[in-house]
Amino acid sequence: MFRILRGKDYDDMSRIAANVISAQVTLMPECVLGLATGSSPIGTYSQLIRWHEDGLIDFSGVTSVNLDEYVGLDGSDDQSYRYFMNRHLFDHVNINPKNTYVPNGKAFDTKKECERYDQMIHNLGGIDLQLLGLGNNGHIGFNEPADSFAKGTHQVNLTESTIKANSRFFDKTEDVPTQALTMGIGNILQAGKILIVVNGEGKADIVKKAFFGPITPQVPASILQFHKNVTLVGDEAALSLI
Ligand code: F6R
Repeated sequence: MFRILRGKDYDDMSRIAANVISAQVTLMPECVLGLATGSSPIGTYSQLIRWHEDGLIDFSGVTSVNLDEYVGLDGSDDQSYRYFMNRHLFDHVNINPKNTYVPNGKAFDTKKECERYDQMIHNLGGIDLQLLGLGNNGHIGFNEPADSFAKGTHQVNLTESTIKANSRFFDKTEDVPTQALTMGIGNILQAGKILIVVNGEGKADIVKKAFFGPITPQVPASILQFHKNVTLVGDEAALSLI
C-alpha cells in the first residue's frame, strides 16, 4: 500500500506524521520505532512531545533505533545525531534511554559496530515503523546514490551535495564530518511500515523521481516503491509535482 497524505504546511504535515506514529505506539505499546534526524522530522517530534505532555501518548514500552550517525562524533557532541535525538525527542518523553539506539560514531572498529547494530536490530525482532526523511539527492539514511543497494549497516563517504546540505548546521563546511555509519537499504526495507516526511519546494523534484521514476540505486529512495506499506507525508510545496 502506498498512501500520500498532504499537509497544508510544515506544521500540518508534522501533525499528520505524528498521528501515524501515535497510532503505531497506541496499537503496539512495545513497538520498535526506526527514527531519523534532519530538519524534516523536528516538527513531528515536537508534536509528539506536546501530546506526551498532555498525557496522550506513552513511550514507556517503546524501543527506538536511529538510522545513522556521523563517524568521529561522540554522543555528547552537539552536532552528533545522538545529541539531536536527545534534544528533539528523548529528553522530553518517557522513553527509557536504555532502549534508544544510535550507531556509535566513535567506535574503534566501525565494521564491528555495523555488525553489532544489525544484530541488535535482529534481536529486537526488527523495526515496526521506520520514519525517514529524503535527501535532496534521493538518499535515505545515508545511503547515497550508488551503483548498487547496500544491505546492512555500513560506513559511507558522504557526497559533496550531502556535505553541503548538512553544512547549514555547522559553523564551517570543514567541520562537517565526511563519513557516517548508516543502516542499509536492506534494514530499511525490512521495516514493517515506512513513514517518510518531506517539506519545502526544494524536495518536489526528488519526491517525484523517487516515487514515480525508475527504481535505481542512483535514487536510493526509489527502492521504497517495492515496499508493501509506505506512507508519504508532505506539505503542499514538496508534493506539488505529484
Ligand atoms: C537523517 C537522515 C537523512 C535525512 C535527509 C533529509 O537521519 O538519515 O537521510 O533524513 O538528509 O534531511 P532533512 O530532513 O534535513 O532535509
